[in-house]
Amino acid sequence: MIELKSPSERDGLIEAGRIVAEVLVLLQEAVRPGLATRELDRLAEAEIRRRGAEPVFKGYQAHPSQPAYPASVCVSVNDEVVHGIPGSRRLNPGDLVSLDLGARIQGMVGDAAVSVFCEAPPSDTAARLLEVTARSLAAGIAAAVAGGHIGDIGAAVSGVVEPAGFSVVRDFVGHGVGRAMHEDPQVPNYGVAGRGPLIKPGMALAIEPMVNIGDRRVAVRDDGWTVVTADQSLSCHFEHSVFIDPDGTRVLTRLAESGSNAVQSANG
Ligand code: MF3
Ligand code: CO
Repeated sequence: MIELKSPSERDGLIEAGRIVAEVLVLLQEAVRPGLATRELDRLAEAEIRRRGAEPVFKGYQAHPSQPAYPASVCVSVNDEVVHGIPGSRRLNPGDLVSLDLGARIQGMVGDAAVSVFCEAPPSDTAARLLEVTARSLAAGIAAAVAGGHIGDIGAAVSGVVEPAGFSVVRDFVGHGVGRAMHEDPQVPNYGVAGRGPLIKPGMALAIEPMVNIGDRRVAVRDDGWTVVTADQSLSCHFEHSVFIDPDGTRVLTRLAESGSNAVQSANG
């Protein structure tokens, strides 16, 4: 069942989205060679709590047989697609780092991700991967309008990614967002325009393309969380939470006046 949010739930989503956006800017600015990824987790948790919110990812289990996710932010480097666990790994120049963050305030969740290079991209193809993934998210958001269908979003995302010669991950998808991080509907990054649930005012959706340079297939590491590309090719991830208003779609996790690069490039 796809929930339509009340006005006060909408207010909470706006607040949660703003907090996620603010903290993501701080995290991406902290990325530098030599930094241990657990430092990003410390910063994420402290900055979420300082804003009166709570981390959503910490302690999360998708199903009872899965270990609880141990951190407040997912840090997924290079061939790691999503759900990388921060730890003692140190960042190197040229690493492609996905930062995925969730926060809850007033009972409502914000969920967003941004990818950045540590210093500079290691190759033109890597730089193009980030640019194409950001542009695919912008296309997905543009397709997420009242009166459209969920399939429009995936068709728009893959319509940017596949002509560029990259592949869209299918084993993980976007989702509705609200009191819970994962609500109906699933929001695949592939699909057929005009298919799937009708998009209605009051829906909140997390749109999150995961794009690989190589094959779309992925595997999960022994830690039970970290998703990696099967062929070890580079992978990139951007995510925004959006709210469907009758007169347009509001990007909840975008800062109006962000001074930083990658967040804006996600927005086209
Ligand atoms: N944006 C991710 C998702 O929607 C974040 C989940 S990380 C988790 O799946 F650890 F909390 F699962
Ligand atoms: Co998400």
